Amino acid sequence: MRLFVALTPPGEILDEVEEAVSPHRGRHPGLRWVHSENRHVTLSFLGEVADEQLPHLYGGLDRAAAAHGPLRLSFAGAGAFPRATRGRVLWVGLVGEGVSELAASVATAARGAGVELERRKFSAHLTLARARQPGDLSPLVDALAPYQGTTWRADAFHLIRSHLGRPGPRYETLASWPLSASGRDGG
Ligand code: 2AM
Repeated sequence: MRLFVALTPPGEILDEVEEAVSPHRGRHPGLRWVHSENRHVTLSFLGEVADEQLPHLYGGLDRAAAAHGPLRLSFAGAGAFPRATRGRVLWVGLVGEGVSELAASVATAARGAGVELERRKFSAHLTLARARQPGDLSPLVDALAPYQGTTWRADAFHLIRSHLGRPGPRYETLASWPLSASGRDGG
């Protein structure tokens, strides 16, 4: 099954992002916008995971969750992958202490379960839209660059199964882990 591990921001935080984004939606007609309820922050994309790997994966994620406390995060700034002038993915940035470390722990858990991960460097973001063809997304990126959202608290991560299909993927949360380390609570 096709899996990834993600943070799911609170609905009101996603609404706030959507309010900032919606005036600019018309600027680039070739974009497919991710529905607000499907938006998440991917900590690690695992890809295909076999059933027999799941017990190891769950064990590793137990350890990752126990090693991290809740995080204080906010969405800020914007960009595009691979770059604004030939963008495929439009995103807002995520800032806050501890998120890269958490992503690294999740990656360690996945590798420990025998999952081969892409070597791509972790970059914390919330995907807003994807382009059918790479295009110049700079006007959108520039318009969203000043964005600074309200701080929110991530107190869990989720293992999510992606069912590919039309019109887009459907996401199913298989399990959730509270960020349960004490003494490192970001508040
Ligand atoms: P994203 O984080 O930029 O949105 C499920 O597909 C999630 O895993 C998406 O959120 C997606 O991108 C992320 N992801 C990371 N690498 C991926 C890959 N190689 N293929 C598909 N999705 C990937």
